[in-house]
Amino acid sequence: MRVLITGGAGYIGSHTCIALLEEGHEIVVFDNLSNSSLVSLERVRQITGKTFPVIVDDVTDRLALDSVFSEHKIDAVMHFAGKKAVGESCVEPLMYYQNNVAGTLILCEAMKAHEISTLIFSSSATVYGDPHSTPITEEFPLSTTNPYGQSKLMVENILRDLMAADNLSGKNFWQLGILRYFNPVGAHSSGLMGEDPQGIPNNLLPYIAQVAVGKLDKLSVFGGDYPTPDGRGIRDYIHVMDLAEGHVKALHFLSMNNVSDCQVWNLGTGNGYSVLEMVKAFEAASQCPVPYEITSRRSGDIAECWADPSKAKRELGWKAGRNLQVMMEDAWRWQSSNPKGYSS
Ligand SMILES: NC(=O)c1ccc[n+]([C@@H]2O[C@H](COP(=O)([O-])OP(=O)(O)OC[C@H]3O[C@@H](n4cnc5c(N)ncnc54)[C@H](O)[C@@H]3O)[C@@H](O)[C@H]2O)c1
Repeated sequence: MRVLITGGAGYIGSHTCIALLEEGHEIVVFDNLSNSSLVSLERVRQITGKTFPVIVDDVTDRLALDSVFSEHKIDAVMHFAGKKAVGESCVEPLMYYQNNVAGTLILCEAMKAHEISTLIFSSSATVYGDPHSTPITEEFPLSTTNPYGQSKLMVENILRDLMAADNLSGKNFWQLGILRYFNPVGAHSSGLMGEDPQGIPNNLLPYIAQVAVGKLDKLSVFGGDYPTPDGRGIRDYIHVMDLAEGHVKALHFLSMNNVSDCQVWNLGTGNGYSVLEMVKAFEAASQCPVPYEITSRRSGDIAECWADPSKAKRELGWKAGRNLQVMMEDAWRWQSSNPKGYSS
């Protein structure tokens, strides 16, 4: 298939480019480079030995999307383009709704006009809010506490409405998949690609990695008094290449099954690790100390969150295969050989 990858120069999108190309698909990347660089895509070419078109533009620009869909015969869209910082979303909610929600609306309108019906959307475990128990299945109630999470949930609801409208009209046009990611970490095993946050990282692993290379002084661990075995928050960390491969499986599923409901899959490992376990595992992989201090809890953070990924295993034949040690070794290989990320 020929797949349009919005946000394809970013962390998860660029790794998914590799997974798709390695499975024999063709790709067209569409990214405004607001949080990424073209170097990630040069690395994709270097690793796979394949070339592909790249369009630098914005998903809120309908004319730009129209011209991509007219020029390239696209079979499916994977929609990664979006802003993802929870804290920033509380300060700039309009920017988040415009980019994440309006961007998806405009993309769907353009897809419909060009009769492209298959879309895979990057959602997040954040739509489960503060879950009543763990592990979390796709049937858990949905709620969010910040504009970023709200934007993901709004898009999910829009996609469900598109399917409902199809069912009402009996048209069966849309084929929609929602992937709820848990906590993506790690990097491609080559050490050529990885997460390259701009400024101070928001996510745990890039922060730990930058402390290990001496770019940042120490890690702040938010909260040491959670009701968990070591008092630290617990999350389900998943290797970014496992996540990328989940997208290829979801694409395969949608192309083989004529679905009449929005398909939702959790992409996680089913294992939870505490922040302290992550620090220790990173120290073991890197042989570098990671100094940290316990600070107060961060508002909106929950104690623990991990996935029940059995639906993805059952329906997609997908299971995360890379363990914590591999996640850490790959993250360290990337960080130590590219201390300044793609601008190294
Ligand atoms: N990384 C995570 O922890 C995580 C967890 C759950 C969900 N997600 C979602 O997965 C997707 C990808 O996340 P990521 O970690 O790769 O982020 P990222 O910032 O590395 O990648 C997003 C890409 O989208 C591009 N982009 C943003 N707005 C755009 C627009 N309007 N038009 C065109 N391009 C645009 C950016 O330049 C960037 O290359 C996002 O939608 C994010 O919300 C990420």
